[in-house]
Amino acid sequence: MSGHELRAEDLGAGYGERSVFDHLDIAFPSGRITAIVGANACGKSTLLRTLSRLLPARRGRVLLDGRSIHHLPSRELARTLGLLPQSPVAPEGITVADLVSRGRHPHQGLFSRWTGTDERAVADALDATGTAELAERAVDELSGGQRQRVWIAMALAQKTDVLLLDEPITFLDISHQVEVLDLLTDLNRSRGTTIVMVLHDLNLAARYADCLVAMAGGHIRSVGAPEIVLTEEGVRQVFGLDCRVLTDPTSGRPMMLPLGRHHAQRDAGAEPRLALADETLPREQP
Ligand SMILES: Nc1ncnc2c1ncn2[C@@H]1O[C@H](COP(=O)(O)OP(=O)(O)OP(=O)(O)O)[C@@H](O)[C@H]1O
Ligand SMILES: [Mg+2]
Repeated sequence: MSGHELRAEDLGAGYGERSVFDHLDIAFPSGRITAIVGANACGKSTLLRTLSRLLPARRGRVLLDGRSIHHLPSRELARTLGLLPQSPVAPEGITVADLVSRGRHPHQGLFSRWTGTDERAVADALDATGTAELAERAVDELSGGQRQRVWIAMALAQKTDVLLLDEPITFLDISHQVEVLDLLTDLNRSRGTTIVMVLHDLNLAARYADCLVAMAGGHIRSVGAPEIVLTEEGVRQVFGLDCRVLTDPTSGRPMMLPLGRHHAQRDAGAEPRLALADETLPREQP
């Protein structure tokens, strides 16, 4: 089992004149799954990019096992910590097999010797993500969901102990969403991989993550077990949305139902209308 501790201290980042966050402190539990949730533009991707050194920190530091990542050799950092960005761009015309193989670059020596271990890591990643049959296809000719699974395969092929994923399931149909989250859970349980991912689906986040981090306007609003973070009041504060929180009958985790303007009234006390299907179906002639 691996288990690396990733933490940010007094972290600040931004673009040009704009600061996205300042003085941000957060520790991601080692060997656990954390999901970051929050409204569009609140700074989730900027945080992941700064944690992985893709974006330079403007202040503060990111520590991996107590060592500042800003001073680690690139290859060493890439072997330990992998990032799947929100909108990765594949080199034009590259095949699936070649793209996934690039995930192995940090593991190869100076003379780029390709070994059996690399071969197996790529084959395993293609199998796990159901993309083996796409191996010879060009990445830019795939559907959005197929492409997303190929990027996940590339991230898995890296076999890093810490994996940061920015919206890994956004373009997937529901069964592939669950498959990818199950796969990440397997990875977490079998190898102790520390997983930090941005998710927009609060119910899947609550079901799969050990820890939720709710962000709003460049600040961390709450951190903790799903029961602590996914509350009606929490959702109102972070998303400005009224909802009901129930208990997911399959996992026991919290589950939210957004109200919306058109459904709040029934929730407020009207009788449930279970006969709706009968009323709308065409009636049989007597
Ligand atoms: N490359 C960039 N250059 C300038 N500003 C940027 C850049 N990337 C993001 N921003 C700005 O930084 C802020 C935070 O963006 P970020 O991408 O971190 O949001 P997010 O929480 O990931 O949102 P989403 O849910 O839409 O992906 C936004 O105001 C955004 O417009
Ligand atoms: Mg984002």
